[in-house]
Amino acid sequence: MPMTAIVLAAGEGTRMKSRHPKVTHKLLDKPLVWWPVNAAREAGADRIVVVVGHGAHEVRAIFANDPDVECVDQTERLGTGHALMCVRDALGDFHGPTVVLYGDTPLMRAETIGNLVEHTKAGHHACTVLTMCPDDPTGYGRIRRDADGNVLAIVEHKDCTPQEQANLTECNSGIYCFCGRRLSQHIDRIGNDNAQGEYYLTDMVGIYREVGEPVSALLASDDSELLGVNSRVQLAQVTKIMQRRINERLMDGGVTMLDPDQVWVGAQVSVGADSELLPQTMLWGDTRVGRDCVIGPNTRLTDTVVADSARIEETVAIQATIDAGVTVGPRAYLRPGAHLLEGAHVGTHVEIKNSTIGRGSKVPHLSYIGDTTMGEGVNIGAGSITCNYDGVLKHRTSIGDNAFVGSDTMMVAPLSIGAGALVGASSCITRDVPAGALAVERSEQVMVEGYAAKRMERLKGQRARGEKEQG
Ligand code: UD1
Ligand code: CA
Repeated sequence: MPMTAIVLAAGEGTRMKSRHPKVTHKLLDKPLVWWPVNAAREAGADRIVVVVGHGAHEVRAIFANDPDVECVDQTERLGTGHALMCVRDALGDFHGPTVVLYGDTPLMRAETIGNLVEHTKAGHHACTVLTMCPDDPTGYGRIRRDADGNVLAIVEHKDCTPQEQANLTECNSGIYCFCGRRLSQHIDRIGNDNAQGEYYLTDMVGIYREVGEPVSALLASDDSELLGVNSRVQLAQVTKIMQRRINERLMDGGVTMLDPDQVWVGAQVSVGADSELLPQTMLWGDTRVGRDCVIGPNTRLTDTVVADSARIEETVAIQATIDAGVTVGPRAYLRPGAHLLEGAHVGTHVEIKNSTIGRGSKVPHLSYIGDTTMGEGVNIGAGSITCNYDGVLKHRTSIGDNAFVGSDTMMVAPLSIGAGALVGASSCITRDVPAGALAVERSEQVMVEGYAAKRMERLKGQRARGEKEQG
């Protein structure tokens, strides 16, 4: 039977004090709602449906390129039961195990979803409610059981008697697994005659009791998975838990961290064994780091691929490719399309964009290299720049193997510097340089013997005359 996951994400989240819907706020490198969606995916969901309402276009945009996710509108937010009715109306009857998750509960693990589904299937339950016993149950729906411990109903906090509010400590996490067939059969029995005038999904439990369908509750093994985000303080708390979870997984896999509280790694990043992440390092998006690398301190890599044994210090890299044994930084900026081949070195205050830096080539200090193809064994002197932009168009530069470009060279593109060519320091090169040639563009040096002393005498004389006039 195919498994469906429905992620409720129509709420506004007023306590975030934000112009954006709550579930679009980021936890590490992904929006809140991405996390339960991904947990469902990892748990093997065949169909993932996100219910959107408040700020629907912003939530839909998150999944615009995700073929696994369908979004369904809930234009009026009339309760969690109504949210599922909207899904049924949009996509047809439910089939197979149907798991309900929340877009603002990002710590839910795939394993827990899997257990919930297995428990439901094994017991042929119409519904299993995932429950918890928080220190403070205020606000949560409570599980009402009979003397034998069978689940009778979920009663919302506001609908509980004062005794129930005090005595019922087991709470509804809001996460369930339903049998799709029986959910479709009975969902329209949910009414809105309650304290909030909403269609409560929780009413399904009492409804199943009435029609004699078995319902079960499963106490979650880790309450922290059920933490919801309603405020920015809670967002920071949940982020800290996720940061630890990811960093501990990496350390268990052989990655060293001087201080794991100062390393932030996104959901889909991989880091090879024997690599070390130093403080204030952020690895985001589709970043992959090989083995034996040292990354950081103060480094942010986004969608960047790093091969083995690279050393990257105080660097920002976006969509860059860094091959084995490359050294970068301190303080380099690698922009999209930067590809540093094996053994290359990009040093201090260097920016590279859309360029290939060949094997063992060096751009050590204060340079900008853009739209360039550089061969191997090239040396670029300090302060050299490719002038790739004429104000309208971008032009390419090519630099052949083993070329030596002196310091403070302006390479005005389009330009080709041949293999083994030499360029004299402080040249503005506007014409192609043939292989093996020397190019120098520099005015002749002027020399005036004894000039410094004469100048000093003249200046002193001027000062003396000035003081006389004033006095
Ligand atoms: C719900 C449960 C409660 C449980 C608690 C756990 C119900 C009636 N109550 O209460 O038993 O203890 O979660 O956190 O289900 N949403 C929609 N559309 C709606 C209403 C809600 O998408 O029409 C989404 C919200 O964005 C939110 C989630 O569903 O992410 C929970 O809704 P909310 O109304 O906040 O339910 P709780 O009062 O938290
Ligand atoms: Ca010059």
